[in-house]
Amino acid sequence: MSSRKILVLNGPNLNLLGTREPEIYGYATLDDIAQRLAARGAELGFAVDCRQTNHEGVLVDWLHEARTQQVHAVLLNAGAYTHTSIALLDAIRAIQLPVIEVHLSDPETREPFRHLSYVGMAAVDCIKGLGPDSYIVALERAAAL
Ligand code: DQA
Repeated sequence: MSSRKILVLNGPNLNLLGTREPEIYGYATLDDIAQRLAARGAELGFAVDCRQTNHEGVLVDWLHEARTQQVHAVLLNAGAYTHTSIALLDAIRAIQLPVIEVHLSDPETREPFRHLSYVGMAAVDCIKGLGPDSYIVALERAAAL
């Protein structure tokens, strides 16, 4: 039987949402997004655990923890580590849990260095370009898994 918990992991600089390049990322803070996720998660019957770190290794540790806590699925906005981190790719493959890649913007329409996604090589799905709604759509996809 699957757990009724969904883990939402956010990587570097996402703690600055609300003031960070609002022309790209909008004005919602990560707390605003976490509150929306908790409310939608409750409607869908899931507890949502939303976390943020600026450190790559902490994201790896949290992915490992997800396996031991038997979460239903993970939403991962790895920020810039999306485009650089083989460690995150390996961690996603190692935990054997569904991970959905999330982005507020659409990295593929931005600078070429954002077009490569290591996270996307192992994620089961990717929701991007919808601003904060990317997280909500990803949560709904995760709940349906
Ligand atoms: C981002 C896109 C990444 O390219 C960028 O490095 C981020 C945010 C997004 O949510 O649109 O930090 O993941």
